[in-house]
Amino acid sequence: MKIRAAVLEEFGRPLEVQEVDLAEPKAGEVLVRLVACGVCHTDLYTASGADPSGYSPTVLGHEGAGVVERIGEGVGSLAPGDHVVTLFSPQCRECAHCLDARTNLCLAIREQQSQGYLPDGTTRLSRDDEPIRHFMGTSTFAEYTVMPEIALAKIAPEAALDRACVFACGLSTGIGAALNTAKVEPGSTCVVFGAGLVGLGAVVGCRLGGAGRIVCVDPAETRLELARGQGATDTLTGGPEAVEQIVELTGGFGADYTFEATGLVGVMRQAVESARMGWGLATVCGVAGKGETLDVVPRLLITGRRVAGSSFGGVKGRDQVPQFVDRYLAGDIDVDPLISHTLSLDEVNRGFDLMHAQDGIRSVISFDA
Ligand SMILES: NC(=O)c1ccc[n+]([C@@H]2O[C@H](COP(=O)([O-])OP(=O)(O)OC[C@H]3O[C@@H](n4cnc5c(N)ncnc54)[C@H](O)[C@@H]3O)[C@@H](O)[C@H]2O)c1
Ligand SMILES: [Zn+2]
Ligand SMILES: [Zn+2]
Repeated sequence: MKIRAAVLEEFGRPLEVQEVDLAEPKAGEVLVRLVACGVCHTDLYTASGADPSGYSPTVLGHEGAGVVERIGEGVGSLAPGDHVVTLFSPQCRECAHCLDARTNLCLAIREQQSQGYLPDGTTRLSRDDEPIRHFMGTSTFAEYTVMPEIALAKIAPEAALDRACVFACGLSTGIGAALNTAKVEPGSTCVVFGAGLVGLGAVVGCRLGGAGRIVCVDPAETRLELARGQGATDTLTGGPEAVEQIVELTGGFGADYTFEATGLVGVMRQAVESARMGWGLATVCGVAGKGETLDVVPRLLITGRRVAGSSFGGVKGRDQVPQFVDRYLAGDIDVDPLISHTLSLDEVNRGFDLMHAQDGIRSVISFDA
């Protein structure tokens, strides 16, 4: 079928919205009609050429939500009409990692996915019979996409898809970092560095975990305001004194749980340094620049601080994304303030501009717009 999609032709150039071909889903695959898709830093990072593993041409986009249109042979968990959120982090439910509660890093399709292919090593996207590679196994800056069944989370049909799409990446990453990776305990003191979608998600996760105190750190006052709306009890504007301020705020010891959601290694270090001696756990969510390293004084670890990393918040997507969406429907998670702009597919590059300008938390492409 012919679809319209935003194609990355050349790094550092605007995406080009154009008509491309999309083949029917093969065995184990699903054709999804996209209804909404968030515009995320990872899309911009790849489009800019900064990601050394990037490739082109490809159709970007990975924060999609839509409706199942058709299913390929052997697909048993989804049917036409089902509402789904796309997962760049799949869940096959069979590999050693899927069967282990300690990780969400499914091993099933990693290699093919990272090279831009569907699990059988081919693409469904093409143009003039030349293949166009998929991006993150999702390619959701498009009217339709074909994805593996194991990379789609079936969600409640009542959930608005232009809200549900933020659970495809940043929001679930933050919530999961608090609930899955750190396992925040009721009454505890938490600090979240960064109040973008990931950091605000961590604030939400700390609140859902019953934290007694949630300190959010971000230089942007507008974002701190949003953090208060999501449950932050204290806010700080960050900078070199942040650790000292946090230690002071926490009776001289530091926090039970700290979260880094900035991608800055200096802030990751602050997250470790502001964790409490004895048991403080620093959870790193941000993606650092190529070659950057985290500098930590070992004494901080010997005296009981721990460091953890979290990919997609440790969320096993097919199981847990639908649960998060249910909590949104139940009124436990306030998604509306996180969505600042609604764009059409043709305006996708404006989504990147808004992100550069730190204008709002998320721009969402609406395919009905
Ligand atoms: N681990 C994962 O699976 C995963 C998933 C999605 C995104 N990420 C990464 O998480 C990070 C955050 O993503 P986002 O979408 O929320 O980004 P964002 O750019 O919207 O938010 C980052 C925030 O950090 C703030 N900040 C800058 N300097 C700071 C400082 N010194 N102290 C405190 N805050 C500071 C900025 O003002 C901004 O609000 C990025 O590195 C992104 O690549 C990771
Ligand atoms: Zn994302
Ligand atoms: Zn798996």
